[in-house]
Amino acid sequence: MTRMTVAELLSSDKFLQEVTLKGWVRTFRANRFIALNDGSTLNNIQCVVDFENTDESVLKRITTSAAVSVKGTLTESQGKGQTVEIQVSEIEILGDSNPEEYPIQPKKHSFEFLRENAHLRIRTNTFSAVMRLRSALSFAVHKYFTENGFYNFHAPIITGSDAEGAGEMFNVTTLDVENLPKTDDGAIDRSKDFFGKTTNLTVSGQLEAETYAMALGKVYTFGPTFRAENSNTTRHLSEFWMIEPEVAFNNLDDNMDLAEDFIKSVVSYVLQNCKDDLAFLDNRLTQEDKSKPVIERNEMSLLEKLNFVVDNNFKRVSYTEAIDILRNSKPNKKKKFQYLINEWGADLQSEHERYLVEKHFKCPVILFDYPANIKAFYMRLNEDGKTVRAMDVLFPGIGEIVGGSQREERLDVLQQKMAELGIEEKELWWYLDTRKFGTAVHSGFGLGFERLVQFTTGMGNIRDVIPYPRTPQNAEF
Ligand code: 4AD
Ligand code: MG
Repeated sequence: MTRMTVAELLSSDKFLQEVTLKGWVRTFRANRFIALNDGSTLNNIQCVVDFENTDESVLKRITTSAAVSVKGTLTESQGKGQTVEIQVSEIEILGDSNPEEYPIQPKKHSFEFLRENAHLRIRTNTFSAVMRLRSALSFAVHKYFTENGFYNFHAPIITGSDAEGAGEMFNVTTLDVENLPKTDDGAIDRSKDFFGKTTNLTVSGQLEAETYAMALGKVYTFGPTFRAENSNTTRHLSEFWMIEPEVAFNNLDDNMDLAEDFIKSVVSYVLQNCKDDLAFLDNRLTQEDKSKPVIERNEMSLLEKLNFVVDNNFKRVSYTEAIDILRNSKPNKKKKFQYLINEWGADLQSEHERYLVEKHFKCPVILFDYPANIKAFYMRLNEDGKTVRAMDVLFPGIGEIVGGSQREERLDVLQQKMAELGIEEKELWWYLDTRKFGTAVHSGFGLGFERLVQFTTGMGNIRDVIPYPRTPQNAEF
């Protein structure tokens, strides 16, 4: 008899079939009804124990979170809320669980408490739904790019270049920090380090991806990235996963089209393939909203929001237009923004991004053509000499979900920009080579995977959409 999953059994109509299944007890009631879950689906299957013919000693060990193996027949259920159930003929306790010590009780726990028990929170409905969705989204990402002629490119995680400028980096070293080797002038002697030079964990695979796009045409990375910024927000992690497509011959408009099509495609994928988990999360968010003051409630339910994103065009707005809107906005005039927008050139904070998306346009927004001096060195300078072909995709509830640009393909302009910013050419000689040997217009962007998972699951805190979050002062597990 082969072992079947709960998901398979719940959608089966082969009644009176003898089956074996294994899983963890969610609840056991009336010495008779086990709600069994094996992770294959959000839903539990009811297993009805013949308690008169089962040893008292076995019944006692059927406790919440115990691992069990069940043999029985699949029957149509008499009970409400389920179509099938298992009439148990044999039950074996595979692993006991002491209900007094098990931290996850059948009651509502705070997300803070569950974060401290991140190894067990996955056994709750909310986290199992979130993590199944995360897995489905990851598959949808690879599916989208594969079906659109992209090659997956594995960018290095340890990097010898620290010139991307996307954020503070984590140093990678095997030097004895208690006893650092010094050069004659007292500096740390990095030539004695493992790689013979300073190395860091990558903040982005972009620069390396650009070199690959210049030969394979369309590539994408999907890997972990690391930023040592001291940002304690609901949208920042120190270790997060980023998806970075890079496409030869694409200009900024093509890049915006790609970002929009890509996001819509992965969101539609989960709408079609993760219905149970999404329905559960939709309901969770609706319940959570009810406990909030009316003005803080979401205007749309989770499912409405996801369908809205799939069905509507993202609004494309230049930075210059956005500044005009913000300058004349109520919160700016009434000095409600923490950072007031006074002039062109101001960097946008998340309060401004969220105003544009949530209050003004009420839809996803792509801002483009930012001032050169608030963006990275590699972005294509526009003819006006003061803006660059940058784009940020802004989402309701999240703010920036994508950052990207058309890249500066002109060697002399790039060299001049690097000189202005003090980036040494010898640091990035290999990057400059792409501009010497067959340079071409090209573009790409980075999507923060956890921000996408946050949006799709409706979870308020980014720490609740990655299995083991790393944030300042926190790397437990
Ligand atoms: O805007 P960023 O810094 O762009 C880059 O790194 C470019 N090299 C991307 C490219 O053009 N290939 O980061 C891209 C995205 C952001 O829009 C955001 O979604 C996410 O990565 N992100 C973070 N997510 C979680 N925690 C953080 N600390 C993040 N920093 C950026
Ligand atoms: Mg950015």
